[in-house]
Amino acid sequence: MSDNATPRSTRGELVLSLRGVSKHFGAVSALTDIELDVHAGEVVALVGDNGAGKSTLVKVLAGVHQPSSGTITFGGKEVTLSNPAAALDLGIATVFQDLALCENLDVVANIYLGREKNPLRLDEVSMEVKAWTLLNELSARIPSVRDVVASLSGGQRQTVAIARSLLLDPKLIMLDEPTAALGVAQTAEVLNLIERVRDRGHAVIMISHNMEDVRAVADRIVVLRLGRNNGVFYPDSSNQELVAAITGATENAVSRRAGRRQAEQGA
Ligand SMILES: Nc1ncnc2c1ncn2[C@@H]1O[C@H](COP(=O)(O)OP(=O)(O)O)[C@@H](O)[C@H]1O
Ligand SMILES: [Mg+2]
Repeated sequence: MSDNATPRSTRGELVLSLRGVSKHFGAVSALTDIELDVHAGEVVALVGDNGAGKSTLVKVLAGVHQPSSGTITFGGKEVTLSNPAAALDLGIATVFQDLALCENLDVVANIYLGREKNPLRLDEVSMEVKAWTLLNELSARIPSVRDVVASLSGGQRQTVAIARSLLLDPKLIMLDEPTAALGVAQTAEVLNLIERVRDRGHAVIMISHNMEDVRAVADRIVVLRLGRNNGVFYPDSSNQELVAAITGATENAVSRRAGRRQAEQGA
Protein backbone atom coordinates (compact mmCIF):
# COMPACT_ATOMS: atom_id res chain seq x y z
CA MET A 1 0.00 0.00 0.00
CA SER A 2 1.71 3.15 -1.10
CA ASP A 3 0.66 6.20 0.85
CA ASN A 4 3.03 9.03 0.16
CA ALA A 5 0.36 11.68 -0.29
CA THR A 6 0.44 14.65 2.05
CA PRO A 7 -1.64 13.78 5.10
CA ARG A 8 -3.90 16.35 6.81
CA SER A 9 -2.14 15.91 10.15
CA THR A 10 1.47 15.73 11.29
CA ARG A 11 1.92 12.03 11.21
CA GLY A 12 4.53 10.39 13.39
CA GLU A 13 6.35 7.07 13.37
CA LEU A 14 4.85 3.83 12.13
CA VAL A 15 2.99 2.33 15.09
CA LEU A 16 1.25 -0.67 13.59
CA SER A 17 1.99 -2.77 10.56
CA LEU A 18 0.10 -5.87 9.40
CA ARG A 19 1.44 -8.12 6.67
CA GLY A 20 -0.42 -11.06 5.21
CA VAL A 21 -2.81 -11.33 8.12
CA SER A 22 -5.49 -13.96 7.59
CA LYS A 23 -8.17 -15.29 9.89
CA HIS A 24 -10.28 -18.36 9.23
CA PHE A 25 -13.21 -19.54 11.27
CA GLY A 26 -13.43 -23.16 10.15
CA ALA A 27 -14.22 -22.96 6.44
CA VAL A 28 -15.01 -19.22 6.58
CA SER A 29 -12.21 -16.85 5.54
CA ALA A 30 -13.01 -13.71 7.49
CA LEU A 31 -9.67 -12.06 6.59
CA THR A 32 -7.26 -12.90 3.78
CA ASP A 33 -3.76 -11.41 3.39
CA ILE A 34 -4.55 -8.11 5.08
CA GLU A 35 -2.00 -5.30 4.96
CA LEU A 36 -2.42 -2.25 7.13
CA ASP A 37 -0.08 0.51 8.30
CA VAL A 38 -1.01 3.05 10.96
CA HIS A 39 1.18 5.92 12.15
CA ALA A 40 1.20 7.98 15.33
CA GLY A 41 -0.98 11.08 15.00
CA GLU A 42 -3.01 9.58 12.17
CA VAL A 43 -6.66 8.55 11.86
CA VAL A 44 -7.15 5.54 9.60
CA ALA A 45 -10.77 4.78 8.76
CA LEU A 46 -11.63 1.14 8.16
CA VAL A 47 -14.65 0.86 5.90
CA GLY A 48 -16.47 -1.96 4.18
CA ASP A 49 -19.83 -3.61 3.78
CA ASN A 50 -21.32 -5.95 6.36
CA GLY A 51 -19.20 -9.07 6.55
CA ALA A 52 -16.14 -7.33 5.07
CA GLY A 53 -14.04 -8.33 8.09
CA LYS A 54 -13.80 -5.00 9.93
CA SER A 55 -14.83 -6.32 13.35
CA THR A 56 -12.69 -9.42 12.94
CA LEU A 57 -9.66 -7.24 12.16
CA VAL A 58 -10.30 -5.08 15.21
CA LYS A 59 -10.73 -8.19 17.36
CA VAL A 60 -7.44 -9.62 16.09
CA LEU A 61 -5.72 -6.36 17.09
CA ALA A 62 -7.54 -6.29 20.42
CA GLY A 63 -6.26 -9.77 21.26
CA VAL A 64 -9.75 -11.31 21.12
CA HIS A 65 -9.02 -13.49 18.07
CA GLN A 66 -5.70 -15.04 17.07
CA PRO A 67 -4.77 -14.61 13.38
CA SER A 68 -4.47 -17.87 11.39
CA SER A 69 -1.36 -16.48 9.66
CA GLY A 70 0.57 -13.28 9.01
CA THR A 71 2.61 -10.89 11.12
CA ILE A 72 1.67 -7.98 13.35
CA THR A 73 4.37 -5.44 14.10
CA PHE A 74 3.62 -2.97 16.85
CA GLY A 75 5.97 -0.29 18.13
CA GLY A 76 8.73 -1.70 15.91
CA LYS A 77 8.49 -5.25 17.24
CA GLU A 78 6.68 -8.31 15.95
CA VAL A 79 4.05 -9.14 18.55
CA THR A 80 1.62 -11.86 19.54
CA LEU A 81 -1.60 -10.54 21.00
CA SER A 82 -2.64 -13.62 22.98
CA ASN A 83 -5.49 -11.99 24.87
CA PRO A 84 -7.10 -8.60 25.44
CA ALA A 85 -4.93 -7.86 28.48
CA ALA A 86 -1.79 -8.45 26.41
CA ALA A 87 -3.00 -6.02 23.72
CA LEU A 88 -3.87 -3.42 26.33
CA ASP A 89 -0.49 -3.85 28.06
CA LEU A 90 1.28 -3.22 24.76
CA GLY A 91 -0.71 -0.03 24.23
CA ILE A 92 -3.65 -1.08 22.05
CA ALA A 93 -6.95 0.19 23.45
CA THR A 94 -10.37 -0.60 21.97
CA VAL A 95 -13.73 1.10 22.28
CA PHE A 96 -16.17 -1.60 21.19
CA GLN A 97 -19.50 -0.60 19.72
CA ASP A 98 -21.49 -1.43 22.85
CA LEU A 99 -19.12 0.87 24.85
CA ALA A 100 -19.34 -1.44 27.91
CA LEU A 101 -20.19 1.36 30.32
CA CYS A 102 -22.08 0.87 33.59
CA GLU A 103 -25.28 2.92 33.52
CA ASN A 104 -25.63 3.16 37.28
CA LEU A 105 -22.07 4.34 37.94
CA ASP A 106 -20.78 7.89 37.55
CA VAL A 107 -18.26 9.13 34.97
CA VAL A 108 -15.22 8.72 37.26
CA ALA A 109 -16.18 5.15 38.15
CA ASN A 110 -16.67 4.30 34.49
CA ILE A 111 -13.35 5.78 33.42
CA TYR A 112 -11.62 3.71 36.13
CA LEU A 113 -13.74 0.58 35.79
CA GLY A 114 -11.49 -2.38 36.64
CA ARG A 115 -8.45 -0.09 36.91
CA GLU A 116 -9.13 1.57 40.25
CA LYS A 117 -5.95 3.23 41.45
CA ASN A 118 -5.94 1.37 44.73
CA PRO A 119 -8.57 -1.35 44.60
CA LEU A 120 -8.43 -1.96 48.34
CA ARG A 121 -8.95 1.67 49.25
CA LEU A 122 -10.30 3.55 46.26
CA ASP A 123 -8.55 6.88 45.95
CA GLU A 124 -11.66 8.77 44.91
CA VAL A 125 -10.09 12.22 45.01
CA SER A 126 -7.16 11.50 42.73
CA MET A 127 -9.36 9.45 40.39
CA GLU A 128 -11.79 12.35 40.13
CA VAL A 129 -8.99 14.85 39.47
CA LYS A 130 -7.44 12.60 36.79
CA ALA A 131 -10.82 11.96 35.13
CA TRP A 132 -11.60 15.68 35.12
CA THR A 133 -8.15 16.59 33.78
CA LEU A 134 -8.42 14.01 31.01
CA LEU A 135 -11.89 15.22 29.96
CA ASN A 136 -10.70 18.84 30.07
CA GLU A 137 -7.71 18.05 27.89
CA LEU A 138 -10.14 16.52 25.42
CA SER A 139 -12.39 19.61 25.75
CA ALA A 140 -15.18 17.14 26.46
CA ARG A 141 -18.56 18.53 27.34
CA ILE A 142 -19.49 16.50 30.40
CA PRO A 143 -21.43 18.59 32.97
CA SER A 144 -20.05 16.75 36.01
CA VAL A 145 -17.79 13.73 36.46
CA ARG A 146 -20.13 12.73 39.28
CA ASP A 147 -23.12 12.36 36.92
CA VAL A 148 -24.19 8.78 36.38
CA VAL A 149 -23.78 7.50 32.84
CA ALA A 150 -27.53 6.85 32.58
CA SER A 151 -28.08 10.63 32.55
CA LEU A 152 -25.65 11.28 29.68
CA SER A 153 -26.37 11.70 25.95
CA GLY A 154 -25.06 9.21 23.39
CA GLY A 155 -22.23 11.57 22.44
CA GLN A 156 -21.25 12.07 26.06
CA ARG A 157 -21.20 8.30 26.60
CA GLN A 158 -18.92 7.87 23.61
CA THR A 159 -16.72 10.59 25.12
CA VAL A 160 -16.53 8.74 28.44
CA ALA A 161 -15.69 5.48 26.66
CA ILE A 162 -12.92 7.21 24.68
CA ALA A 163 -11.55 8.92 27.81
CA ARG A 164 -11.56 5.54 29.54
CA SER A 165 -9.53 4.01 26.70
CA LEU A 166 -6.96 6.83 26.99
CA LEU A 167 -6.35 6.25 30.68
CA LEU A 168 -3.37 3.96 30.12
CA ASP A 169 -1.98 6.28 27.40
CA PRO A 170 -2.20 3.73 24.55
CA LYS A 171 -0.20 4.13 21.34
CA LEU A 172 -3.20 2.98 19.32
CA ILE A 173 -6.88 3.40 19.94
CA MET A 174 -9.54 1.59 17.92
CA LEU A 175 -13.10 2.87 17.72
CA ASP A 176 -15.90 0.67 16.36
CA GLU A 177 -18.66 2.82 14.83
CA PRO A 178 -18.21 5.76 17.24
CA THR A 179 -20.93 7.87 15.61
CA ALA A 180 -23.41 5.16 14.60
CA ALA A 181 -26.08 6.00 17.17
CA LEU A 182 -25.59 9.79 17.24
CA GLY A 183 -27.43 12.83 15.89
CA VAL A 184 -25.74 15.59 13.91
CA ALA A 185 -24.51 17.81 16.77
CA GLN A 186 -23.26 14.88 18.85
CA THR A 187 -21.55 13.35 15.84
CA ALA A 188 -19.70 16.62 15.26
CA GLU A 189 -18.61 16.63 18.89
CA VAL A 190 -17.31 13.06 18.75
CA LEU A 191 -15.47 13.75 15.48
CA ASN A 192 -13.83 16.78 17.11
CA LEU A 193 -12.85 14.56 20.00
CA ILE A 194 -11.27 12.03 17.65
CA GLU A 195 -9.23 14.86 16.09
CA ARG A 196 -8.01 15.90 19.53
CA VAL A 197 -7.05 12.30 20.31
CA ARG A 198 -5.06 12.22 17.08
CA ASP A 199 -3.47 15.58 17.86
CA ARG A 200 -2.26 14.15 21.17
CA GLY A 201 -0.19 11.79 19.04
CA HIS A 202 -2.21 8.62 19.37
CA ALA A 203 -2.72 6.43 16.32
CA VAL A 204 -6.44 5.97 15.68
CA ILE A 205 -8.33 3.27 13.75
CA MET A 206 -11.98 4.15 13.26
CA ILE A 207 -14.60 1.83 11.80
CA SER A 208 -17.50 3.68 10.24
CA HIS A 209 -20.36 3.26 7.81
CA ASN A 210 -20.77 7.00 7.39
CA MET A 211 -18.66 8.26 4.48
CA GLU A 212 -19.26 11.88 5.47
CA ASP A 213 -17.82 11.23 8.94
CA VAL A 214 -14.96 9.26 7.47
CA ARG A 215 -14.03 12.00 5.05
CA ALA A 216 -14.37 14.63 7.77
CA VAL A 217 -11.81 13.10 10.10
CA ALA A 218 -9.72 10.36 8.44
CA ASP A 219 -6.22 10.87 7.08
CA ARG A 220 -6.51 7.65 5.09
CA ILE A 221 -9.40 5.38 4.28
CA VAL A 222 -8.73 1.65 4.06
CA VAL A 223 -11.41 -0.35 2.29
CA LEU A 224 -12.02 -4.02 3.05
CA ARG A 225 -14.17 -6.17 0.83
CA LEU A 226 -14.94 -9.84 1.44
CA GLY A 227 -12.08 -10.01 3.93
CA ARG A 228 -9.45 -8.51 1.60
CA ASN A 229 -7.87 -5.09 1.09
CA ASN A 230 -9.72 -3.26 -1.65
CA GLY A 231 -7.90 0.05 -1.92
CA VAL A 232 -6.58 2.95 0.13
CA PHE A 233 -8.25 6.32 -0.33
CA TYR A 234 -7.84 9.88 0.88
CA PRO A 235 -10.44 12.27 2.27
CA ASP A 236 -10.72 14.04 -1.07
CA SER A 237 -12.14 10.86 -2.63
CA SER A 238 -15.69 11.09 -3.89
CA ASN A 239 -18.51 9.13 -2.35
CA GLN A 240 -18.86 7.33 -5.64
CA GLU A 241 -15.26 6.10 -5.60
CA LEU A 242 -15.55 4.91 -2.02
CA VAL A 243 -18.87 3.19 -2.53
CA ALA A 244 -17.54 1.52 -5.66
CA ALA A 245 -14.58 0.10 -3.73
CA ILE A 246 -16.79 -0.97 -0.85
CA THR A 247 -19.37 -2.74 -3.01
CA GLY A 248 -17.04 -3.85 -5.77
CA ALA A 249 -19.52 -2.33 -8.22
CA THR A 250 -16.75 -1.08 -10.45
CA GLU A 251 -13.48 -2.69 -9.48
CA ASN A 252 -11.90 -0.33 -12.02
CA ALA A 253 -12.48 2.73 -9.86
CA VAL A 254 -9.94 1.37 -7.40
CA SER A 255 -7.24 0.75 -9.93
CA ARG A 256 -8.01 4.07 -11.66
CA ARG A 257 -7.56 5.82 -8.35
CA ALA A 258 -4.37 3.93 -7.59
CA GLY A 259 -3.10 4.74 -11.07
CA ARG A 260 -3.82 8.42 -10.58
CA ARG A 261 -1.95 8.47 -7.26
CA GLN A 262 1.03 6.78 -8.84
CA ALA A 263 0.98 9.29 -11.68
CA GLU A 264 0.82 12.17 -9.18
CA GLN A 265 3.79 10.74 -7.34
CA GLY A 266 5.65 10.32 -10.59
CA ALA A 267 5.95 6.60 -9.92
N1 LIG B 1 -16.72 -15.90 15.49
C1 LIG B 1 -17.00 -16.16 14.20
N2 LIG B 1 -17.23 -17.42 13.77
C2 LIG B 1 -17.48 -17.66 12.47
N3 LIG B 1 -17.52 -16.73 11.51
C3 LIG B 1 -17.30 -15.46 11.87
C4 LIG B 1 -17.02 -15.10 13.23
N4 LIG B 1 -16.84 -13.75 13.29
C5 LIG B 1 -16.99 -13.29 12.04
N5 LIG B 1 -17.26 -14.31 11.19
C6 LIG B 1 -17.46 -14.18 9.73
O1 LIG B 1 -16.38 -13.46 9.21
C7 LIG B 1 -16.81 -12.55 8.20
C8 LIG B 1 -16.43 -11.13 8.55
O2 LIG B 1 -17.25 -10.68 9.64
P1 LIG B 1 -17.04 -9.34 10.42
O3 LIG B 1 -15.61 -9.20 10.77
O4 LIG B 1 -18.01 -9.31 11.54
O5 LIG B 1 -17.43 -8.27 9.32
P2 LIG B 1 -17.83 -6.73 9.48
O6 LIG B 1 -17.49 -6.29 10.86
O7 LIG B 1 -17.04 -6.02 8.42
O8 LIG B 1 -19.29 -6.65 9.22
C9 LIG B 1 -18.30 -12.78 8.05
O9 LIG B 1 -18.50 -13.70 7.01
C10 LIG B 1 -18.69 -13.38 9.37
O10 LIG B 1 -19.82 -14.20 9.24
MG1 LIG C 1 -18.73 -5.55 12.35
